[in-house]
Amino acid sequence: MTFRAFAIAMTRVWTGRIKNRGLVGLVMAKVLNLDEVDLDGRTVLVRVDINSPLDPVTNVFLDDTRIKRIIPTLNKLSKSKVVLLAHQSRPGKKDFTSTLGHSRELGRLLGRTVKWVDDIYGKKALTAIESLEDGELLMLNNVRMDEEEISTKGDFDVMAQTQMVQNLSMIADAFVNDAFACAHRSSPSIVGFTNTLPCIAGELMNYELSKLSQALDNPARPCIAVLGGVKVDDSVIVADNMLRNDVCDHIWVTGGVANLFLFISGIDIGDVNVDFLKGELKGSWDSTIAMASELLMDYPECIIMPSDVALHLEGNRVDEPLKNLPLEGQIFDMGITSIQSLSRAIKSAGTIILNGPAGVFELSDFALGTVEMLNACAEGDGYSVMGGGHTATLVSKRGLADKMGHVSTGGGACLDLLAGRTLPGVASLEESAKQFRFSISKPLDHQ
Ligand code: 3PG
Repeated sequence: MTFRAFAIAMTRVWTGRIKNRGLVGLVMAKVLNLDEVDLDGRTVLVRVDINSPLDPVTNVFLDDTRIKRIIPTLNKLSKSKVVLLAHQSRPGKKDFTSTLGHSRELGRLLGRTVKWVDDIYGKKALTAIESLEDGELLMLNNVRMDEEEISTKGDFDVMAQTQMVQNLSMIADAFVNDAFACAHRSSPSIVGFTNTLPCIAGELMNYELSKLSQALDNPARPCIAVLGGVKVDDSVIVADNMLRNDVCDHIWVTGGVANLFLFISGIDIGDVNVDFLKGELKGSWDSTIAMASELLMDYPECIIMPSDVALHLEGNRVDEPLKNLPLEGQIFDMGITSIQSLSRAIKSAGTIILNGPAGVFELSDFALGTVEMLNACAEGDGYSVMGGGHTATLVSKRGLADKMGHVSTGGGACLDLLAGRTLPGVASLEESAKQFRFSISKPLDHQ
């Protein structure tokens, strides 16, 4: 590893303060950033999160926001040999694909060729990396096609033992993490290089960390979280952290998260809706139910559920109050009354943290809850932080981005950070900076 002898300048990059009522903490990341290092002529692994919504039939990109957002980092590495590590969805999901389309889309946006190889760390990938010239870009295939990426559990050293990290560390000089949106996941491609290569925060990573820390610097009250979408297990953990750490005054639940809370509070939401939740949660059903039940018991006044729902019945939207359940048909949105209550709450909140759609927004009849809550954020005076790929896509499609406080590229990562959890991807950058913080041009600035 030649880079150990090669110096990297250092300074403190990002310092953010979190001051919450009941939680006064200091979130401080001392990580290396791209302005502090000279990576010209070097082989640089760059982990990005360009996991994007794809058309279920054609696989065409429905939104390229995340791809656009990595361009500042790539521009800073314009004289390096850049090797991109990325994922799309996860095994078993319909949109789990190769990254070939991502490389083409990135090439189109950059106006430059982005090479692609159908391999991650085998012979084909290593040969392609070795033949890169300065200024060239190569994207490896979906890292989640590697079994170890999906299943390895353990600390940084365990991750470093994986074949991906072993092979790629041999051939690269540095690792840049620009994948803020999956910084909450601990996997070889996110944290495995901590002790094997100098790990540096990319431009997007730094931007997200500084914007989100601003959002939590004395947030205006009331602070509400609006949690929806189908990553219900993640959302319940976040809700738990947010309420127990006093980050939020109220949590409004929508989408699949609302269905789960309605279910555990004794509302008969109908077999079809329970089965859908079970299908999404799979092995985490029991633990999610247990955590949500305890949270509801401890914070009954703070978790606000819809009072009515919109069902998908014979192709139509049918709004019904909870007392009329169960009915046949899937719950595809909040009902009108609930949408109005949520809009009012958003407009009178000082801070709004919103993640995930309120319903099946892809069907126009059921987009109402999602669209109205976003409109309320844009119209209200509160500072709104939007998290999650779907939410970010909708915000940009509806032209609301400049009316929001911050539109994060992260969903779970954004929420975890706001809930006060340490993100493994950020912890890895901090840890690596401690080891690789040395410079040819400047003495170490111990802080
Ligand atoms: C996301 O889209 O939020 C990130 O890419 C993380 O995806 P994951 O929830 O499948 O890990």
